[in-house]
Amino acid sequence: MAGRLSVVGFGPGDRGNMTFRAAEVIQASDVVFGYEVYVDLVREMFPDKEFRASRMLKEVERCTDAVKEAETGKNVSVISSGDPGIYGMAGIVLQIAEERDSDIDIDIVPGITAASSAASLLGAPLMHDLAIISLSDLLTPLDLIMKRVECAGMGDMIVCLYNPKSKKRTDHMANAADILLRFRGPGTPVGIVRNIGRDGEDTTISTLGRLKDESVDMFSTVIIGNSQTYVHNGRIITPRGYRL
Ligand SMILES: C[S@@+](CC[C@H](N)C(=O)[O-])C[C@H]1O[C@@H](n2cnc3c(N)ncnc32)[C@H](O)[C@@H]1O
Repeated sequence: MAGRLSVVGFGPGDRGNMTFRAAEVIQASDVVFGYEVYVDLVREMFPDKEFRASRMLKEVERCTDAVKEAETGKNVSVISSGDPGIYGMAGIVLQIAEERDSDIDIDIVPGITAASSAASLLGAPLMHDLAIISLSDLLTPLDLIMKRVECAGMGDMIVCLYNPKSKKRTDHMANAADILLRFRGPGTPVGIVRNIGRDGEDTTISTLGRLKDESVDMFSTVIIGNSQTYVHNGRIITPRGYRL
């Protein structure tokens, strides 16, 4: 009998921001697959579980192994940070199951994505139309990424950057900032939140003009306000349009 595979979003990393359903599904699993950094985060909350950790860039192998394990009749989870349907493991699991013509049950368990958890620590920056853009060009051509940044700028959308910078990818964020500076002022508020819900959580409020000099890494989420966004008492606010 084919088993069940749950793709579980565990939120930013702390227990308080993991949903009850995510915790229940992980607890009910026979085996939990995940990226080694995420397994280390989640393992201490579920010490009796069997975990299979793998390295970054091993997503296809990890999810194929998880599908095969579920095909043996086991109850399997693949953990994914934030929400599994936003740059997470939900899509690749469904594609692998389709490719294998697998008859396992697949369950996608949503989680709090980094845009939401970052916004909550900054104030209320995401109160209007929003573009989430990943600056990683591992799976997406760089010119398409920058075209999307330009379109978001043209549309005065709040921009939330995932994967803003890595050791190899050092220029993309500065280039994205330069594109947005064609459409909005250098004083536009920017929030940078690092390691949300994890050791070393850190929040910085800056401006679009200063963004390229700020300290940002692959564990950071960057929110760039629209033309109406402002800062008051250390909080970023994007007005929704209510009359006060
Ligand atoms: C491949 S994406 C995964 C996004 C994830 N599925 C989500 O919904 O939050 C990885 C990027 O998400 C952002 N991110 C994920 N977790 C974060 C956290 N705990 N703190 C800050 N940023 C985070 C960072 O921009 C990171 O480079």
